[in-house]
Amino acid sequence: MSSKVLITREIPEKGIQILRKSGLDCIINKTGRPMTRNDLETNIKEVDAVISMLYDRIDQPLLAMASNLRIVANYAVGIDNIDVNACTASGITVTNTPGVLTEATADLTLALILSAARKIVSADRYFREGLFNGWDPLLFVGESLTDKTLGIIGMGRIGQAVAKRARGFDMRIIYHNRKPLPDNITASLEAKYYPLDEVIREADFLSLHLPYSPEAHHLINKERLKMMKPGAYLINTARGAHVDEKSLVDHLRSKKIAGAALDVYESEPLPAKGLVSLDNVTLLPHLGSATVYARDAMAEMAASSVIAVLSGHKPLNIINPQVFAG
Ligand code: GLV
Ligand code: GLV
Repeated sequence: MSSKVLITREIPEKGIQILRKSGLDCIINKTGRPMTRNDLETNIKEVDAVISMLYDRIDQPLLAMASNLRIVANYAVGIDNIDVNACTASGITVTNTPGVLTEATADLTLALILSAARKIVSADRYFREGLFNGWDPLLFVGESLTDKTLGIIGMGRIGQAVAKRARGFDMRIIYHNRKPLPDNITASLEAKYYPLDEVIREADFLSLHLPYSPEAHHLINKERLKMMKPGAYLINTARGAHVDEKSLVDHLRSKKIAGAALDVYESEPLPAKGLVSLDNVTLLPHLGSATVYARDAMAEMAASSVIAVLSGHKPLNIINPQVFAG
């Protein structure tokens, strides 16, 4: 009997081909919607592997039903949707897709910074509404990035790739991270380590790049929003729950900061009440890794991890190597 892989949402064909070539039986959700909890529960009982999406809750009750499951290959770099300890306790390997989406996510972050600074989305809307009646010295005047301070919270691969790009715009880089980075890295980025609240106070653009964990929940809360400069912009391409979205809406509504540009939300796919009616915010539907290169590479990586584990090997990008220790 061939092993079965549940793929909870259609992914690029490259990954599926790799799985099929290895003789694996792929069960793919092609509805164009997330799998319901019910469907997830029904299918998880049958399969040896799952390629999960960042919104699938892979928790203890689900794992308890999954008697054949050997690997959860998350189609994302973030793994906050997975109870990793519960997986480890059941001998189930967890993998993610780091590295291959770093550049894509950093590119999108710069796109959001520029969109916020130059009011790209509002200007496009204005044009489409037929309101453009000729060049105007005062029309959609925004901010230049040169000499502005970019505050980065979470200086991992993505944070560093953002810093590198921002240096090209002559921005000044300050950052906070659990640990300061080694001097050789920060020197080439000309990035300075600051305490968290100092980064928040000084930044003209504040961009989040840390993984989600319960400690990072509402890291940007009401008090910290108040610390931001009145002219500052908040950029979030990491995880929605880093930000108290309700307080952010209040803050943006009363124009206490200049604006925000978001790719992620606290309760995806739903935005906080009032968010979509604000004109000082750019809203994207979670597109950080949405390039052909990144999505193909993520599919190949997840497929390779599945094959490795089902053939008894330790995969690259394993989150819980303890499973292979003994
Ligand atoms: C996307 O948000 C990811 O974690 O890959
Ligand atoms: C993601 O790959 C990160 O470490 O920032």
